[in-house]
Amino acid sequence: MTEYKPFKEGKVREIYDVGDALVMVATDRISAFDVILKNKITKKGAVLTQMSKFWFDYTKDLLPNHMISVDTADMPAFFRQPQFEGNSMLCRKLTMLPIECIVRGYITGSGWASYQKTGKVCGITLPEGLRESDKLPEPIYTPSTKADLGDHDENISYEQSIDVLEKHFPGKGAEYAQKLRDYTVALYKKCADYALSRGIIIADTKFEFGLDEAGNIVLGDEMLTPDSSRFWPLEGYEPGHGQPSFDKQFVRDWLKAHPDSDYLLPQDVIDKTIAKYLEAYQLLTGKEL
Ligand SMILES: Nc1ncnc2c1ncn2[C@@H]1O[C@H](COP(=O)(O)OP(=O)(O)O)[C@@H](O)[C@H]1O
Ligand SMILES: [Mg+2]
Repeated sequence: MTEYKPFKEGKVREIYDVGDALVMVATDRISAFDVILKNKITKKGAVLTQMSKFWFDYTKDLLPNHMISVDTADMPAFFRQPQFEGNSMLCRKLTMLPIECIVRGYITGSGWASYQKTGKVCGITLPEGLRESDKLPEPIYTPSTKADLGDHDENISYEQSIDVLEKHFPGKGAEYAQKLRDYTVALYKKCADYALSRGIIIADTKFEFGLDEAGNIVLGDEMLTPDSSRFWPLEGYEPGHGQPSFDKQFVRDWLKAHPDSDYLLPQDVIDKTIAKYLEAYQLLTGKEL
């Protein structure tokens, strides 16, 4: 049996090159305030992978995506081990486009900070009088470039996204930039409307796209998980202040109250967090994991 080593190990995910395809594995690691915690959140990886699968299926009529299978029977034998069951996705290899495609439907976080100072978010002027966590009249597309390891991603304007793409793909910058923006907003609208009907606000999210061998734009990476998005509970939603995170609320609250914890959580906080991930999956898909 061929053994595989991840060629990329992120904070939470591991990526394996299996020849003509990739296996993306979501682990049970959790990060909060940009730190990986010492505890594992059992089933978190499976929830994230199965949630991405749900959204890839839900949007496959809008554009193609990289998902081949989440069944380890379709993967090399090495992946038929307990630690890969449920949390692994076999994906088509893409040539990734170097833009993080961010869309915001609500004003929060760095966007809220910038709006208070300038009335703008990433160069886009917004109406006056918005409160923290308000829904925007229309979702806004705020691309960024992927920074090198350790650096923060850099926000860029739509025009700059054309230049970045043009540099990598001469003659294609304007076309790709426009397609990324239009796909990003369309995906967000369709999925955020659906999530809202199931009790979850998707305040913002990030997509990544790539090119397949024929040059088609294909949706890659993970999709609309709580790790790539801000999920808020609809119940109790109230503009005028920050909203609790659907999934990390207990973790963040506990860490703030215990600054000396060294990022080791007590079991009851872990258990409640596991339950939140399972609940998010159940609400969105209507099925138990
Ligand atoms: N289908 C794909 N083909 C090739 N690369 C991909 C594909 N889908 C996602 N990627 C890339 O895989 C990497 C996932 O890494 P990740 O764990 O999210 O860490 P980071 O985002 O910090 O690089 C990203 O660089 C992403 O662009
Ligand atoms: Mg990433």
